[in-house]
Amino acid sequence: MSARRTSIHGEWSSRFAFILAATGSAVGLGNIWRFPYVTGESGGGAFVLVYLLCVALIGIPVMMAEILLGRRGRQSPLNTMRTLAQEEGRSPAWQYVGWLGMAAGFMILSFYSVVAGWTLAYVVRTATGVFEGATAEGVQSIFTDFIANPEGLLAWHTIFMVMTIIVVSRGVKSGLEQAVRFLMPALFVLLIAMVGYAMNTGQFQQAVEYLFKPDFSRLDAEVVLNAMGQAFFSLSLGMGAIMIYGSYLSHTASITRTAVVVAGMDTLVAILAGLAIFPLVFEYGLEPAGGPGLIFMTLPIAFGQMPGGALFGALFFLLLVFAAWTSAISLLEPAVTWLVENRGMNRVKAAAWSGLAAWVFGILSLLSLNLWSDDRYKLFGMPFIDLVDWLTANVMLPIGGLLIAIFAAWMMSREASRAELGLADGLGFGLWRFLVRYVTPFAILLIFLNKIGVL
Ligand code: PHE
Repeated sequence: MSARRTSIHGEWSSRFAFILAATGSAVGLGNIWRFPYVTGESGGGAFVLVYLLCVALIGIPVMMAEILLGRRGRQSPLNTMRTLAQEEGRSPAWQYVGWLGMAAGFMILSFYSVVAGWTLAYVVRTATGVFEGATAEGVQSIFTDFIANPEGLLAWHTIFMVMTIIVVSRGVKSGLEQAVRFLMPALFVLLIAMVGYAMNTGQFQQAVEYLFKPDFSRLDAEVVLNAMGQAFFSLSLGMGAIMIYGSYLSHTASITRTAVVVAGMDTLVAILAGLAIFPLVFEYGLEPAGGPGLIFMTLPIAFGQMPGGALFGALFFLLLVFAAWTSAISLLEPAVTWLVENRGMNRVKAAAWSGLAAWVFGILSLLSLNLWSDDRYKLFGMPFIDLVDWLTANVMLPIGGLLIAIFAAWMMSREASRAELGLADGLGFGLWRFLVRYVTPFAILLIFLNKIGVL
């Protein structure tokens, strides 16, 4: 058995700093942009219910497994998996979990940066009063015109990627920890204010019913898969982001409590976003299944009509930029640490190269919104950006999570995982182990099999 390792990349200054960083990774576009529109496309309440079940039964156990593997390995996800597999006498093939994760992170970041670019653009638009007094149709056409222009999108995509590279190249502690400490609470407050506004639209009740009254006739294999994919995406699981953050966590911190807090905050933010957005959707007769443009076509209507809306709206989108930023850095971090460990690069160079690669790949997504938007360019009937999103969230992250759960539950010795979790051999540990051994892997498998029609 090895002595306790330390990470060459650094360590968080406290457990609280880890919670902030992990929450920063989890809370992002996934909560405020993706959750509402996927909910809309999946028909509302039944999706939300399955989503909550996925967070509890799959998300939290996998998050604990990821933090525990990360903290034990203390290296890039790839090298962590390789080291732990060796230590436990398992096949070196386990390191491919690390490869899969890096590929997923890179693919997610590519389109994530494009969408984060939209939020940057919307800071400027709301601040300059573009939406003042605009009708719902006006707001919609502003968005469709915006998406139709590749040069503009490219500029914003570039700015966001450069921002991400800069923070990652500065390392774990400086900058990041400080930023999240202040920005996350601010986002929270603004979101609550938006819910307050939405409560007065008259359609709040309808939105609450839409979100929380499950219509089980809407439940099919696709909806369940979407809910699981959304849980993985939103909690940043299955690709090594939480694993690498766990590798900077001090060995004294409680993994269980940490995971529950992070998952709880993430879920709360998603639900608040839904409560802020759907009343506006119904009030203005918009389509809940309106797709990726949903928040960009609803929220600006409110900002255009409320007093002080330009300032408030700009602030809201600005905080969304920050939320996306703190997520994007965690998408890049696994690849960067791997380049530092295995290719002898320094952090700055590693961040620049991996960020550049994701930027180039992102251009394909960007063009699929405009120049390449017609049917000739669709793969499996989807524009490229939707395909990358679907493939990563609904396939790659769940497979990554499945393998992580299997490794932590079946490949590691009971004693090693218990020691790393820091739990006594009691009910709590027994429950986690039961979930991660049986419930989580089978739930993921069943959802896949159901989707491909085997069940
Ligand atoms: N969880 C982030 C969000 O909700 C996205 C993300 C996915 C970040 C996977 C890291 C890893 O926006």
